[in-house]
Amino acid sequence: MPKRPDSLDKPASKLSEDEASAELAFLASALDIADKAYYQNDAPLLSDKEYDQLRRRNSVVERKFPKLIREDSPTHNVGAAPVSEFKKVEHLVPMLSLDNAFDDGDVSDFLDRMKRFLSRSSDDIAIMAEPKIDGASANLLYRDGKLVRAATRGNGLIGEDITENIRTITDIPEQLEGQDIPSEIEIRGEVYMSWESFRALNAEAEKNGTKTYVNPRNTAAGSLRQIDPDVTRSRPLQFFAYGWGGASEAFAKSQWEALQTFGRWGLPLNPLIKRCETLEDVLAHYAFIQSERPNLGYDIDGVVYKADLLEFQSRLGMASRAPRWAIAHKFPAEKAETIVEKIDIQVGRTGSLTPVARLTPINVGGVVVSNATLHNQDYIAGFRRTENGTEKITSDIRVGDRVLIQRAGDVIPQVLHVVDPDREDRGEVFEFPNTCPECGSLAIRDVDVKTGEPDARVRCTGGLVCPAQAQERLKYFVSRKALDIDGFGDKQIELFYERGIVKTPADVFRLESRIAEEGYDPLGTWEGFGETSARKLFDAVDDKRTSPFDRFLISLGIRHVGSSVSKGLAGYFIDWEPFVAVFHRAGMVEHGLRDYETLRT
Ligand code: IVH
Repeated sequence: MPKRPDSLDKPASKLSEDEASAELAFLASALDIADKAYYQNDAPLLSDKEYDQLRRRNSVVERKFPKLIREDSPTHNVGAAPVSEFKKVEHLVPMLSLDNAFDDGDVSDFLDRMKRFLSRSSDDIAIMAEPKIDGASANLLYRDGKLVRAATRGNGLIGEDITENIRTITDIPEQLEGQDIPSEIEIRGEVYMSWESFRALNAEAEKNGTKTYVNPRNTAAGSLRQIDPDVTRSRPLQFFAYGWGGASEAFAKSQWEALQTFGRWGLPLNPLIKRCETLEDVLAHYAFIQSERPNLGYDIDGVVYKADLLEFQSRLGMASRAPRWAIAHKFPAEKAETIVEKIDIQVGRTGSLTPVARLTPINVGGVVVSNATLHNQDYIAGFRRTENGTEKITSDIRVGDRVLIQRAGDVIPQVLHVVDPDREDRGEVFEFPNTCPECGSLAIRDVDVKTGEPDARVRCTGGLVCPAQAQERLKYFVSRKALDIDGFGDKQIELFYERGIVKTPADVFRLESRIAEEGYDPLGTWEGFGETSARKLFDAVDDKRTSPFDRFLISLGIRHVGSSVSKGLAGYFIDWEPFVAVFHRAGMVEHGLRDYETLRT
């Protein structure tokens, strides 16, 4: 910590300009050091109280001497959020994503498209088939064979500098060995964690009573983005190289040759990569990889096919976001059977009542599933969408039934259908409520604006009166997708809602005064909400008092008003007053905007 200036003991109004300037320099540096210690090393240097005093002093002095506000003023940054800690780096060549194929037909279409594009209608073109490793991609920059920089994929153009963390992965060579290494080359591949390491890490976490990890992929990605490389080192990560970005010299004529060359340079390659000549070869290798999947010891989620010849790749080029010369053939969703123990109704942000099946826990492709969505009232009753509209085509679903469930990638598991609908001793037909289970308001079906037919969703009519809707809307209001108020998460909304401090979105902006009215006592009943976090949150709220109009519109969570509609509306109305005036005139404010009217006053 820098030396504490004596002037800190004087009232700010008595400070000379020189003293104020020296104090602001001290405060900027002291708070920065304290933030880093707190956020990055989990080792606070100051008590919450000391920290708050320094922050407050900084605000007071800045208010008295606005001319002296520094570029690096602590009021400009709320904490040292871990995400902003990594340097941004621009990839030499963008990191693309892949289009997906879900069945043999899609794969055949992909091959046909490429052949047509290359005007090679009859002959086959060679294809590389490689397991699609389910981890986190990394871009490794080697200069003269030496690893000089490593980055995450980021948005494809710009990633985060994770060089020091990458250096802890023993699979990744510091120095490439061998012939014909370009003086500069970006090696691309996937960082992953084996099941064995994942299980060991979780066993350790359980023993220590710390939080367990969700799955190997998230753990690998999270481990790469650790501020402290020693933490990354303690997580056993591995790597497979699958491609490259920028390269100062050509070093191969085909994907196959390139990967073989990587192998000679000392980069790890997946043993299941194969060069295939025909569609049949490709599909046979897919089937083989799928059959090996349970024995691999790490997660894969499909097979990537790439036109083998680099000349073809460059002629094919790319479409909007993915290359035309590659595709990911995904594995089908995983299914399993289990019993419905209970059916609960969840109330969402827009009031929709979603039935959720509570299941006897079951392992579906490595993930234990104990809840699955039943979508809506019609779905429980056995209606499914068909070519002719919505028809009853299967049995209704009841408590006690044995059902087939499906989990596909990251999406919420769903109940597909009852396995033995003709069983004699089935339970009662599930009666879908016509009032909201959370607030008792009437729950009704909307009319679908397109068809004029009743919508499948039943919605609670309670608006912000309904505690479930209110909390979900508030969570959305402050979330990253909407106003993006730093440090304001689900936990905070639940705490403030329960205490009656934040009931409507407008209350978010009255947070500080409402909390003061409530008699805030950080050492008493406000567990988990210390003075420091309170101050940070108030500052973060202040930060969002003015937000772009389209952002603000998104945050209202109006149905059908997502990011593009709100941009359109914001472009047309420019500001809140003309926008809301139109709704007033149309008599529509009652329909949802009333809860927000006080927001901008
Ligand atoms: S090729 C243009 N090959 O899948 C080439 N990607 O959905 C793009 N991945 O971000 C990547 N294994 O992280 C390629 N053998 C493989 C892969 C692979 C895993 C990941 C990669 C990429 C994502 C694309």
